[in-house]
Amino acid sequence: MNDRLIIFDTTLRDGEQAPGIALSPDDKVAIAKQLALLKVDVIEAGFAAASAGDFTSVARIAAEVPGPTIACLARTHADDIDQAADALKAADNKRIHVFISTSPIHMEQMLHMSPSEVLKSVKEGVARAKRYVDDVEFSPQDATRSDPEFIIEVCRAAVAAGATTINIPDTVGYAMPEDFVELLTNVYDNVRDGNEDVIISTHCHDDLGLAVANSLSAISAGARQIEGAINGIGERAGNTSTEEVIMALSTRADYFNVEIGADTTQIFETSRLVSSLTGYPIQYNKAVVGRNAFAHESGIHQHGVLQNRETYEIMDPASVGRESVLVLGKHSGRAAFQDALKKMGIVLEDVDFQRSFDRFKELADRKGEISEDGIRAIVTEETATDSVEMQFEAIVVSGGSHEVPVATVTLARNGDVITNTAEGDGMVNAAFVAIQDAYGIPATLLDYRVSPITPGADAMAEVSVIIQVGSSSFSGRGVSTDVVEGSARAIVSAMNKAAFDRGVTENPRDSEA
Ligand code: KIV
Ligand code: ZN
Repeated sequence: MNDRLIIFDTTLRDGEQAPGIALSPDDKVAIAKQLALLKVDVIEAGFAAASAGDFTSVARIAAEVPGPTIACLARTHADDIDQAADALKAADNKRIHVFISTSPIHMEQMLHMSPSEVLKSVKEGVARAKRYVDDVEFSPQDATRSDPEFIIEVCRAAVAAGATTINIPDTVGYAMPEDFVELLTNVYDNVRDGNEDVIISTHCHDDLGLAVANSLSAISAGARQIEGAINGIGERAGNTSTEEVIMALSTRADYFNVEIGADTTQIFETSRLVSSLTGYPIQYNKAVVGRNAFAHESGIHQHGVLQNRETYEIMDPASVGRESVLVLGKHSGRAAFQDALKKMGIVLEDVDFQRSFDRFKELADRKGEISEDGIRAIVTEETATDSVEMQFEAIVVSGGSHEVPVATVTLARNGDVITNTAEGDGMVNAAFVAIQDAYGIPATLLDYRVSPITPGADAMAEVSVIIQVGSSSFSGRGVSTDVVEGSARAIVSAMNKAAFDRGVTENPRDSEA
């Protein structure tokens, strides 16, 4: 049997729930557009009822990202479902994803509901979602710690009320592959029960490192949708990694016998974009997208790969979009830069092109050569123009190991130049204090990371920061050959998001007549 398996990506909903990630609506639209290039079938754009920012993101993705089905999460509450339907209005293909917990511990401790109340709520929630959209997904949260008979009962009720996808979440990453297959087989036989309109789906978490294995094992039980997040990001240890599932299915197509629609050559770019906008680094040895996933260290391995790549590589790096051969120099002009972008599959509007080109020239003058990774980092930074309260202009730091460091930052707001000076207990701290004061927003630096993009003493580095303002956190990134300047750029980008968030006080639907 050779049939289609649906790739459902929840980077923007469950993935974004990881601690410290705070994507702006513009970040989410950028990731959703890249997920559309990756050709995932479903993008879960958010949980509209969770916040005004989430509502805006779902609505914008619904309006601006054609191609995949756009899904929105909702509890069984009427208001959640109404908001999901409202946010999804502009999408060509839309899905409401309704969920409620079914395990005894969640029902008792979190919902304070009896099983029969949960059952009633499922019927009402799914039926309400069905009034708005044909495509309704239902998930019994914490399914793998629920009573299997109760799962069957609620899922049958969900199908009777109109659900077309039944998703079985291993919410806390508790399942073992064989148990999971048994549960999914039970659902396939007793809920789908021959109904060709119902798709059985998996949604696994990685607490025991089994999310991808559990998801793939469910295919043999008839699952035809797998949910995951790029780079495996998500609550705690994260979600099933979307790119690992895609590459397992494509590399071992002989084993799985299912077809997918994903364009694997977009994997690397998608992973890089998610890592840079979330500020979550990718572990070096991460499958498929890690820095070492195609690197060979031992002499024997290197020798083998030089003879024939397949001696030690089961995937071609080009198949995941990983061949990095482009290098531009300080003499490269607009045409060469444009050509490089084209080869990298990057299309920019005129303004974004100009900003990226100017920045490329500035860095190439300092550094000499800029690799493909460097060009990507520049484009990511320069195209993140949304929610720009202030722009970084310059930073000067003085002081050394025996003097208190002093930073003077110059920022621009609507053509006005703002300069601020502050001391700190280090150069980066001084820059942080000076920038924070310029915005007048008290913030705490939660996370600070520097990753080299190019090797060598004059390396270009990418700085990622996460700041906390009140109870919210915001990520930012900056690229430079100078670590203090890169840090200042990253802090400004995060502060811009914080300033924008302060301005988003109303649900945008309230302003609709
Ligand atoms: O892990 C989980 O149970 C979820 C559901 C909302 C599907 O994310
Ligand atoms: Zn989840």
